[in-house]
Parts: sequence; structure tokens; C-alpha cells
Amino acid sequence: SVEEMEKRVRGIKENFGERLFIPGHHYQKDEVIQFADATGDSLQLAQVAAKNDKAEYIVFCGVHFMAETADILTGDHQKVILPDMRAGCSMADMANIAQVERAWPILQETFGDTILPLTYVNSTAAIKAFVGRNGGATVTSSNAKKMVEWAFTQKERIFFLPDQHLGRNTAYDLGVGLDEMAVWNPHTDSFEYEGDLQKVKVILWKGHCSVHGNFTVNNIEYIRKTKPDMNIIVHPECSREVVELSDYNGSTKYIIETIEKAPTGSKWAIGTEMNLVNRLIQQHPDKEIVSLNPYMCPCLTMNRIDLPHLLWTLEWLEKGKIVNQITVPQEIANDALAALERMLAHV
Ligand code: 13P
Ligand code: SF4
Repeated sequence: SVEEMEKRVRGIKENFGERLFIPGHHYQKDEVIQFADATGDSLQLAQVAAKNDKAEYIVFCGVHFMAETADILTGDHQKVILPDMRAGCSMADMANIAQVERAWPILQETFGDTILPLTYVNSTAAIKAFVGRNGGATVTSSNAKKMVEWAFTQKERIFFLPDQHLGRNTAYDLGVGLDEMAVWNPHTDSFEYEGDLQKVKVILWKGHCSVHGNFTVNNIEYIRKTKPDMNIIVHPECSREVVELSDYNGSTKYIIETIEKAPTGSKWAIGTEMNLVNRLIQQHPDKEIVSLNPYMCPCLTMNRIDLPHLLWTLEWLEKGKIVNQITVPQEIANDALAALERMLAHV
């Protein structure tokens, strides 16, 4: 039963003490998050991983790229485990290193040595390594603005991977015009841009988050019509049009803090992942909170981490066997670390 499984997890955690550490991303299910030693957005979890040198086993309740990041940022004596190997990220899957290596020479031919690559942490370790090797950095949704500003102190142009929306929304906020942004299509190996490419300051990889892609202009228009006094807050992985029409936009952390600070009785439609929206609804009964998309938008891969998978990995650990370990090869880890450290130095 669920109670038995919960009891087992609690018992194993107690036995391991500080040797075991369980970070949990805000989009994880309640049945998992209740056992997290630290919860956070992707930046906070990266920082927590970087600081922790005590835990021998880090059982990461999040998705594959986050576990890779944790492995890169932690010591050799620390083992990172992902409770279900199928917990990937559809956005990270939209950019592979072979495509990036095909794109880079074409970008350089077009723009010369004027481009700095930046990658959202939602990307493979191999892409982080490519970015690190070329002087660039990783970004998360909560520091994207700072990092894009920094990038422009280094080079005239940026190449932003793999989320076109976070890239576009962030650059737009910093004053880059939509006509100064081109999209790179990795399936045709070509630019999607009409006009003189030399005007382009930001090259956006054609990737997106399938969860945040489910929040639409129609959803916003519906709320405006039926509940005109409702505030709309969305994650910047939503499209430009949706961000433009919303009242507030920001990272997972920003959304949580905004709802926490909001006055009793205030009304909110939130455009982000379902588990987080449901948790905010439960935690703030004094506020009226709904999902911006009435059908709710779960991240299916985040949801693959559930109580049975968590218990399964912990029971193997108890028996002295490590299952589902995430290890990034050393040569990739070194360059990826350079990209991550450039980010961590700025936040
Ligand atoms: P943050 O945790 O940076 O808000 O990113 C959201 C997300 O989609 C994580 O996969
Ligand atoms: Fe990837 Fe989107 Fe899921 Fe985050 S919410 S893990 S970006 S698919």
C-alpha cells in the first residue's frame, strides 16, 4: 500500500542519514516531493548540488538533464541516481550535439567570430560542453536576463539553445527587437528569417517546452472575458504572444514568490506545470487560483518519478547496489562545468 511504501522510504532515509540526499524539483508529484531534502527550481537545485559534499548518494527527483548537472557539479565520491531513466525532457531532446555541430560552422561563416553560445540548463551535458568550450554559459529561467546581458558584454551576438521562447522573451525584455532575432531550424540546417541576416543579434534554436506550449492566447482571452479581475502569470517558456498578453512572467521560483506575496482574496490564473499549480492551490486556500489552461498541463516526464520508482532505487541502495546512476564522461563534464561555473559566478 501507499502507506507501507511511504514508511519504507522514511525508514531507509533515516538509516542513511546525511549519506543520502534527495533534491526535488517544484514540478514533482506530492507523493515524491514530501521526501525531498531540498526543493527548488533548476537553478536552486544546481546550487544545492554544488554545495553538497557530504552526501554519497544523490537521488534526484527531477529530469535527466538536472541529474547530469548534479553529477557535473558534485565530487567523484558522490553518485547521482535518477529513479526512472525515462524521465527526460522533450525540450532538451529537441537539440542534439550532432545538430549543434552542423549549425556552428554555418553560423560562424555567416557572422564571423561575433557569436557567444548560451544554453538553457534544459539541455544535454554534451551541449553544455560545446557551449563551455566556446566561451559561453548556461542559463536558467531565473537568471536568463542577467546572463544574456553578460553575453552581450562578451560578443555582439548570441546563439541561444534550445528554448526559442525563453531566448526570445528574455532578449525582448532587454530591448532586442523581434526583427533582430532569427530562428535556427535544426531539421533543415537553415535560418528562418526574412531580411538582412547581418541585422540579427540573437539566433534562437527552434526548440520549445511542450508543457508550456499548451498555454495559448485563447486561454488568456477566455480568462479576460470570464474573469476580468484575475491576474495572469506565466513561465517564460510560454510563447511571446502569451507572455505579452499576461500580467506577469517569470521562473518557477518567481511564480511561487509572487503567489506567496499576493494579498488574500486575490485571483490568479497560472501558466505553468500542473503539479506546481495544484500545490499552490492547496497551499493558498485564501486565494482563488486556477490553471491558465483548464485542462491542466502535466509534464509527463517529470511525472515518471513516482513513489514506487523512488522506493525501488532506495531499496537497491539499501542492498548495496546502485541502480540508474547518471554519469557524465569526464571530458564532457570538464567543458560543461566551465559553462555552469560561468553562470554560477553571476548569480
Ligand atoms: P525552472 O525550474 O528554471 O523554472 O524551469 C522550469 C522547467 O521547465 C524545468 O524543467
Ligand atoms: Fe522539459 Fe518542459 Fe518538462 Fe521542464 S516542463 S522538464 S522544460 S518538458
